[in-house]
Amino acid sequence: MSTIVVVGTQWGDEGKGKIVDFLAAQADVVARYQGGSNAGHTVVADNRTFKLHLLPSGILYPGCTCIIGNDVVLDPVCLLQELDGLREAGKSEAGLRISNRAHVVMPYHKLFDGLQERLKGAGKVGTTGRGIGPCYADAADRIGIRVVSWMDPEAFARELRETLALKNRILEAFGEKPLEFEPIYQEYCGYADRLRPYVCDTGALVSRLIAQDKKVLFEGAQAAMLDLSHGTYPFVTSSHPTSGAVCVGLGIGPKCIHKVVGVVKAYATRVGEGPFPTELNNPTGEKLRETAHEYGATTGRPRRCGWLDLAVIRYAVQLNGLDCIALTRLDILDSFPEIQVCTGYRHQGKTMEEFPASLKVLGEVEPIYETLPGWMADTTKCRTFQELPLNCRKYVERIGEIAGAPVGIVSVGPERDSTIVRQRMF
Ligand code: GDP
Ligand code: IMO
Ligand code: MG
Repeated sequence: MSTIVVVGTQWGDEGKGKIVDFLAAQADVVARYQGGSNAGHTVVADNRTFKLHLLPSGILYPGCTCIIGNDVVLDPVCLLQELDGLREAGKSEAGLRISNRAHVVMPYHKLFDGLQERLKGAGKVGTTGRGIGPCYADAADRIGIRVVSWMDPEAFARELRETLALKNRILEAFGEKPLEFEPIYQEYCGYADRLRPYVCDTGALVSRLIAQDKKVLFEGAQAAMLDLSHGTYPFVTSSHPTSGAVCVGLGIGPKCIHKVVGVVKAYATRVGEGPFPTELNNPTGEKLRETAHEYGATTGRPRRCGWLDLAVIRYAVQLNGLDCIALTRLDILDSFPEIQVCTGYRHQGKTMEEFPASLKVLGEVEPIYETLPGWMADTTKCRTFQELPLNCRKYVERIGEIAGAPVGIVSVGPERDSTIVRQRMF
């Protein structure tokens, strides 16, 4: 069996898109199992940059089957825009398959995302505004609209009417204008017609492909610290980006998972609100942001920057059962004479053994730093581990040691070939 889960280990934007696209060269299938258009996965291929939100990062390979699984929340407006972009770039979307059990992001989900954030004021989460939380909430509340109903004009009309009646009462309470059935119905029926050819039972499909011993990648969006159950709640997303969600999110059993790769950015970033113990609000943080051009792929917001936090990575190793790490953006540190890594937290004079659940505690912890010498040399042309400067190799090894998982892939640039593989993946 050859299946690999690729997950984010920090607060997202670790370079999952780059790693999945790189591994997809050998894969038959790439499947997304959670999240929605809040994801922004950058893939650089054929001298072009693709920002993928819903399309799995295998879509640029003509023979690859790309699955949008049942626990992905699907915004048809976004997906159709992505498909248009793909066609303009001369790429085929023939491999796309959409789960008939996925929930559809409706206009009211985006509206409520914005309204709730506005109402929360200073306590806002800093969401991407893509309607993700409200769509998952409706799914849990059993008032969501699934692809299978959306594809059936009668069922869709009935469900949309019922849901709008409910949503309009809430909108009125907010002092907002109620939404009209007809324009939404017509618009979304049009989208359904365009996407119908791709819809199927993706759980059955992916099970069959695994049984045929196909090489399958499970592509996570977001990351461990944004996990609804395990992240820095409530400053999290509304799905489970960790590897445990792969099975529920795709409709397969736990024995289908062969290997788990955690993508770790060589420093740390966070978009949106919430605690960030190693955040650098100083010229070093500025230098990281400008060197790395850390601005959100989905919203364009400046990303908060800081040193690599290995307390977070150790937690991600535990949550995901990581077999190895893909260390990305190592080249960004090329011009830093000294590099710090946080090896753990101290709280009230004691070293913490476990990752704190309390945001109050997380806000109070003092990161314990280890200072490592930089390498002050260009790594972007390195293609083997031995070609990396000695201090750089030491940095990589030290990360694996403290994190408790070996570094199997090192990435030194956004392009496919700027990748060093130290461990056989498939
Ligand atoms: P994702 O959400 O985890 O897929 O990550 P994003 O695409 O949001 O952000 C990662 C950014 O880093 C993108 O602009 C990538 O093109 C870029 N990137 C990925 N790996 C590397 C690397 O090793 N070096 C550099 N310089 N950029 C990288
Ligand atoms: P990728 O897949 C970084 C963050 C938002 C916000 C919180 C909740 O590109 O790594 P949501 O819109 O999901 O309800 O927002 O989660 N967030 C991300 N941050 N990368 C992402 O995706 C993110 N997806 C959501 O900024 O703090
Ligand atoms: Mg991203």
